[in-house]
Amino acid sequence: MPAELSPIDKAKFVAAKRAVEFVETGMKLGLGTGSTAAWMVRCLAERIREEGLRVTGVPTSSRTAELARSLGVPIMSLDEAKWLDLTIDGADEIDPNLNLIKGGGAALLQEKIVATASDQMIVIADAAKEVGCLGAFPLPVEVIPFGWQTTKALLEETLVSMDVLNRDCTLRMNGDRPLLTDEANYIVDLHLKRIGNPRQLALVLNQIPGVVENGLFIDICDIVVIGNGDGRVTVR
Ligand code: 5RP
Repeated sequence: MPAELSPIDKAKFVAAKRAVEFVETGMKLGLGTGSTAAWMVRCLAERIREEGLRVTGVPTSSRTAELARSLGVPIMSLDEAKWLDLTIDGADEIDPNLNLIKGGGAALLQEKIVATASDQMIVIADAAKEVGCLGAFPLPVEVIPFGWQTTKALLEETLVSMDVLNRDCTLRMNGDRPLLTDEANYIVDLHLKRIGNPRQLALVLNQIPGVVENGLFIDICDIVVIGNGDGRVTVR
């Protein structure tokens, strides 16, 4: 274990290390995005270096692609891979049914495409990400820049029609400009506090013209690996 880790980094590291034990030689892997997923790429690089593990990764963002390249983890595009054995990624929230909110790092679109193209998805996280009900973390929705204000108004109207009480929607910024995703889209964050029916909301949001994808991952995650600051890990 790297020396001098803060409890939160230790929690992310031990979860990532445990999840990488699921990887077998010859696998095609989806490589998630975020600080926890970055630990997973480092742990994978270590197994490649030290055990001669042979794998190929499909990164879910330009950041992860850059990290994988810098550590000598072989990568290819999803179109080259076609189908993946396993994706390992982080999450912003995980509910008791293993439904997720993702996209805090603005990579939800590639993350959802890659996870859906995988036989299995393992989510790695620190214990604070486990929640009884999704929604305290703002739900990211990726929208195309054309007409984004109209799309945002439609999102708000949709939330009203669904009797959602907290429905504040904000455009994610990067300094004084809208944040751009890897696909050059915008992110609108929905501050809902509580999502009563995540499955229904995920379907309804994707019907709105201008919405590319939302950060609710329903029935996609198979296994969750939770790390704690004291080094304990639970798998469920
Ligand atoms: C990026 C994501 C990340 O997996 C999520 O935001 C968790 O990130 P971190 O591991 O840094 O807490 O969905 O779009």
